[in-house]
Amino acid sequence: MKTNFRLRITGALGFPIDENPSPVMFEAGFASLGLDWRYQLIEVRPEHLKVALQGVQAMQFDGLNLTIPHKVAAIPYMDDLSKSASIIGAINTVLFRDGRMIGENTDGKGFVISMEKNGINLQGKRLVVLGAGGASRAICVECALAGCDSITIINGTIEKAKELETLINEQTSCRASVIEWTPGVRIPECDILINATPVGLYPDPGMPDICYDDIRPGMIVQDIIPNPAHTPFYKKAKELGATVYDGQSMLVYQGALAIELWTGLTPSDEQMKDALHRLFA
Ligand code: ATR
Repeated sequence: MKTNFRLRITGALGFPIDENPSPVMFEAGFASLGLDWRYQLIEVRPEHLKVALQGVQAMQFDGLNLTIPHKVAAIPYMDDLSKSASIIGAINTVLFRDGRMIGENTDGKGFVISMEKNGINLQGKRLVVLGAGGASRAICVECALAGCDSITIINGTIEKAKELETLINEQTSCRASVIEWTPGVRIPECDILINATPVGLYPDPGMPDICYDDIRPGMIVQDIIPNPAHTPFYKKAKELGATVYDGQSMLVYQGALAIELWTGLTPSDEQMKDALHRLFA
């Protein structure tokens, strides 16, 4: 009888990482493929990132995710980067191939897939994005590459927004512009409004300080926060008649994409979603 008791291990490095829901979601994805693979959360302080990556490679992990605060810091340790990871300047997924570490970013691609699954075609759409941090960069770059017409970035730290504006205008055919975020900032006419800030992330009860009169019935509003009970922003936009989506679907598809890159197989997004719903219930 042929036996192989070696566990196939994947996981995430972050700091802090205790409340990350990924293991349940990823292991549901592996199980949907009949794979008994594990997903381990590993707390790694910023000053230990290099040695932790070497350790993970030495232990022959089958795949790795990176989360706050390692998404940008890990770039110099990669042997290669995907096109969008190098434009975005951050990675959340590592592939181990023939002794090489390849950095990829599935955050923005997960966002684009979740839009498609919700029946929204990004081609020619006008987007307004709140925030210009890591999540916003990934979403803006992938939406621009996916063919949206324009992106207006609204952010408090205007330099960050301008840097992202330049990146999009130089590297994609989408038109980007910026607005400085002041209290009650007006939202220009658009098809899709995206909250890519952490405002409203549990237990923060806050709401982005924008002019809510500018949210009109029929507008698509996407919150990237996957709060189970929904954020005040989500609830308000819904009350105003917008078609609203939360961040759970994006979370699932960025994970499903990572599994696909690691295994070459497509996991069941439904089973991954169900696992998250049970966890949040
Ligand atoms: P992430 O990786 O989740 O995107 P980040 O890189 O720290 O996190 O970025 C957070 C973004 O949310 C930033 O654009 C930040 O604005 P600044 O660049 O001006 O700091 C934005 N943000 C955070 N809190 C905010 C608030 N209360 N109101 C408006 N924007 C906020």
